Amino acid sequence: MIRSVVRGFGAALPKRVMTNRDIEDVVDTSDEWIVQRTGIRQRYVAGDDETTSSLGAAAARAALENAGLTPADIDLIICATSTPDNTFPATAVSIQNRLGMTHGFAFDVQAVCTGFVYAVTTADAYIRGGLAKRVLVIGAETFSRILDWNDRTTCVLFGDGAGALVLEASEGEGTTADRGVLTAHLRSDGSHKDKLYVDGGPSTTGTVGKLRMEGREVFKYAVGMITDVVVAAFEATGTTADDLDWLVPHQANRRIIEGSAKKLNIPVEKVVITVDLHGNTSAASIPLALATAAGDGRIKKGDLVMLEAMGGGFTWGAVLLRW
Ligand code: ACO
Repeated sequence: MIRSVVRGFGAALPKRVMTNRDIEDVVDTSDEWIVQRTGIRQRYVAGDDETTSSLGAAAARAALENAGLTPADIDLIICATSTPDNTFPATAVSIQNRLGMTHGFAFDVQAVCTGFVYAVTTADAYIRGGLAKRVLVIGAETFSRILDWNDRTTCVLFGDGAGALVLEASEGEGTTADRGVLTAHLRSDGSHKDKLYVDGGPSTTGTVGKLRMEGREVFKYAVGMITDVVVAAFEATGTTADDLDWLVPHQANRRIIEGSAKKLNIPVEKVVITVDLHGNTSAASIPLALATAAGDGRIKKGDLVMLEAMGGGFTWGAVLLRW
């Protein structure tokens, strides 16, 4: 059977680092409060010359270089983002243009912090359906642009950045020993919209809007939703937490990550945590974490890796893959 195998990875971050101490100058908060409640120590913030598509294209170039490929080898680009450059065209098409590509096709996926899990699942479906052979899957965000910088309950949590994978069609045996995406489980439930949303949009206010969140409410649901889809991925493949080499969670909050890992009996040494460095970069957080841990040699070829995320909508999902 056809599997979608990771051939390359890459990441890009804005030039400017903003530490918790820097945020103390913006709102009434403290490094101690932010670290204790979230584990975040710093985040990157895009400058005037940096956009979601410029960061996404930089991550894509890095992933292509890592794969030993060029844009000519790619037939599909999927970009997960909730902070597009424009309402349209899709940011993926702008990235395609930045890469100098006029062949193939490109589109965006919007599932907020679960966006990258949705995008990998979509790419896998296109590859297994024979519609694409090599897909650039990108998560790219500039959440700093939709933050209310007067609201200390949200502005301390988020950051900007991008990460990318090249997924490639490859023949597998149909067992869990295959490299590539082994299973994917996606969920959404719009009845939770008011707990985490942006208060503007083209069809409502005609403005971009700002992020609004009831943090405690989101927290209440997060661990249960995450563990449900991870367990579904284990059950679908007959694997267990013992088989897993790495859990690569969406990086929203260290307490949510550690709470989920504990409930799943996954030791913290097997969890990739980058929230301290990047903050919550929404759809970019998982590919940034993957690029960090594969780049420093922790994630190796053949490792069993679980991706999971939960975010606005609510949306949530998990992908189990062999690297
Ligand atoms: N600095 C200092 N004090 C603060 C700050 C801040 N930045 N923010 C809030 N506080 C205060 C509050 O005003 C409150 O004070 P009070 O007790 O005098 O009223 C106190 O801290 C406690 O506030 P809580 O909101 O109860 O704090 P909590 O422990 O719940 O932590 C947090 C807040 C970190 C937001 C937590 O609820 C959380 O992580 N929730 C999940 C959010 C999340 O991960 N969202 C991302 C989901 S993914 C996506 O799609 C975007």
